Amino acid sequence: MVNTKVNLCSLELENPVIPASGTFGFGYEFAQLYDINCLGTFSFKGTTREPRFGNPTPRIAECEAGLINSVGLQNPGVDSVIEDELPKLRECFHKPVMANVSGFSVEDYVYTCAKLDKIEQIGWLEVNVSCPNVHGGGMSFGTSPQSAAEVTRAVKAVTEKPVIVKLSPNVTDIASIAKACEEAGADGISLINTLLGMRIDLKTKKPVIANKMGGFSGPAIKPVALRMVYQVFEAVDIPIVGMGGASSAEDVIEFMLAGATAVEVGAANLVDPFACKKIIEDLPAVMEKYSINNLREIIGGAH
Ligand code: SIN
Repeated sequence: MVNTKVNLCSLELENPVIPASGTFGFGYEFAQLYDINCLGTFSFKGTTREPRFGNPTPRIAECEAGLINSVGLQNPGVDSVIEDELPKLRECFHKPVMANVSGFSVEDYVYTCAKLDKIEQIGWLEVNVSCPNVHGGGMSFGTSPQSAAEVTRAVKAVTEKPVIVKLSPNVTDIASIAKACEEAGADGISLINTLLGMRIDLKTKKPVIANKMGGFSGPAIKPVALRMVYQVFEAVDIPIVGMGGASSAEDVIEFMLAGATAVEVGAANLVDPFACKKIIEDLPAVMEKYSINNLREIIGGAH
């Protein structure tokens, strides 16, 4: 019997598989398809202080081995998440959930995190300083060590919950940003968010996405994500949640060998809503195939 349990910032997960924010709604939508309690946990849709309608459409462009999205943080706002979404989730998911938080100022992050801090159902705050689809916030906080640290420090001051800072790959030195977040008190780092990309329609000769550019995700970005997880593992001593193109149990193991304690699965959920369930079911047999008895023991094994 193999052991798939991992420990993420003092909370035990039955397995390291976590649907990524923005690909799993608020969970209850997927609970209509299968019992989502098989998941380690999941990260719910990026939540902001105020409700957001999101970007104009088209917001999605298909690509070889991936897709570009420019959703623009559409969400009902933190008050509605607390009052409407989380009670529905509570009916069908009986584990701590990861709250993904975005903002347009340090005060926004603080406001939203302070509200979510009071919710028992929430196990971790995933502070997203890496959304490439909005102006005046999101990714701009995650592209310098100083501003990523400033958000981290401010959020840590208003919460008792573990803070996991979600980083952008659209930088030259991700390890220095991860290190700055660790020094500012982050309990974990998640990476990578999407890579800024675009497509052009040959008929209209214009960008496919209304916002011109968006975040590229899917299997094509996995080697970049693995490289960055590997680099960040060498730079910090806090747990890493790896993501970027993972779509199989083999991918989960590969991310863990690079240094991830847990692995978020994103674009794969948009291709197959059962993707995470299948990965979890496949994991024991794939572990046996590669002579892995205990997942905890392989974290960072490639170093
Ligand atoms: C979005 O809502 O635009 C995606 C969120 C993100 O990439 O952080």
